[in-house]
Amino acid sequence: MAANTHTNTTHTALITGASRGLGLALARALARDGWALIVDARGADALEAARAELARQTDVIAIAGDVSDAAHRRALADAARDAGGLDALVNNASILGPSPQPRLLDYPLDVLRAVYEANTIAPLALLQAVAPQLKPGARILNITSDAGVEPYEGWGGYGSSKAALEQLSNILAAELPDQRVYWVDPGDMRTALHQEAFPGEDISDRPLPEVSVPGLLALLGGAYPSGRYRAREIGQAAEVANASEAADDAVDPVRELRVALTVEDFDAALRLYRDGFGLPVVKAWDSPEGRGVVLAAGRGTVELLDTADSAYTDTVEAGRRVSGPVRLAFEVADVCASAASLLAHGAAAEREPVRTTWSDLNQRLRAPDGMQLSLFQLTPASE
Ligand SMILES: NC(=O)c1ccc[n+]([C@@H]2O[C@H](COP(=O)([O-])OP(=O)(O)OC[C@H]3O[C@@H](n4cnc5c(N)ncnc54)[C@H](OP(=O)(O)O)[C@@H]3O)[C@@H](O)[C@H]2O)c1
Repeated sequence: MAANTHTNTTHTALITGASRGLGLALARALARDGWALIVDARGADALEAARAELARQTDVIAIAGDVSDAAHRRALADAARDAGGLDALVNNASILGPSPQPRLLDYPLDVLRAVYEANTIAPLALLQAVAPQLKPGARILNITSDAGVEPYEGWGGYGSSKAALEQLSNILAAELPDQRVYWVDPGDMRTALHQEAFPGEDISDRPLPEVSVPGLLALLGGAYPSGRYRAREIGQAAEVANASEAADDAVDPVRELRVALTVEDFDAALRLYRDGFGLPVVKAWDSPEGRGVVLAAGRGTVELLDTADSAYTDTVEAGRRVSGPVRLAFEVADVCASAASLLAHGAAAEREPVRTTWSDLNQRLRAPDGMQLSLFQLTPASE
């Protein structure tokens, strides 16, 4: 066992089988995110190499041993207690059984028992051992497999051990409604276990385990309900959600432009904007202090024009200089239809519709209170 001290760790995870493959890839990602780690594997040398690497970034306790061994599990639970409790238990360590895998009629039962011990009994036993160390809201993540669901010939030992782990997890989720229990299929990965399952085959087309890690991180860091997940699907969904959040923040720092008009004749304005355009009412109020309404008006933009350009636009659309500091412009699907509706609801036309020099189809109208209204329709030639 070895540990070191970093001061910036915020969470602690116990990951079994973290000397290589998916367990190590997840440990690396959590170390980068500032998680303290407790890790194990049977092979002490590979585990020590992993520990030394991870210790450059975070606090790591590495304990060599077999998850099937109760004394080893007790040592892991003690380490979890000494670390101040767990935010996540990741039952990842697994064995395949014989390679190549025998069909069930020929399966050596002592080996089947060992497979069940490592893949099914040990995850539950470790959970039992560390249960007092789980912090409120801790995640329990059991790594399963599509072989636990699909009846692949030759996968009866490993597959049935994973099927049992799936159902254990399912029932744990029901029995522990205050915890989040996830059972996760990581998908095919280019790892030692996968190579064992396909002895002598070229598995270089399988994705590296790192591809399955974002989904596990999403489950460990998110608020997903207990259940079965496919790591890559949830990873992609989380990526899309993050990207759109980032895009919202980056591209749309302003969520809505609201142009507030003070009008002398409220009903006339309502008739024009609400009924003339057919704008849905978002909110309306009528209080002793006054009346107001918010109308949904599509996408908002701010157009800034210098006085010369504003005068030029007036000349094109209205034939003379008419606008004050504010003019409202509405992109519409059909200028003529919208103009006809607004005219029927109190607007007056400044001029007939015009094809502008920038190739839009525009019509300038005047609201009853004098506000200048531009209707514009983009055409294929619009700049
Ligand atoms: N690779 C795939 O295509 C695939 C597909 C579906 C699901 N999975 C699942 O994904 C998880 C990770 O698999 P992997 O492909 O990353 O495997 P891997 O590369 O073989 O790594 C397994 C890790 O677990 C450790 N380990 C194995 N048995 C152990 C035991 N009894 N006690 C303690 N540590 C043990 C191994 O180290 P030692 O050998 O030194 O103990 C190693 O660190 C497993 O649950 C597996 O069933 C994998």
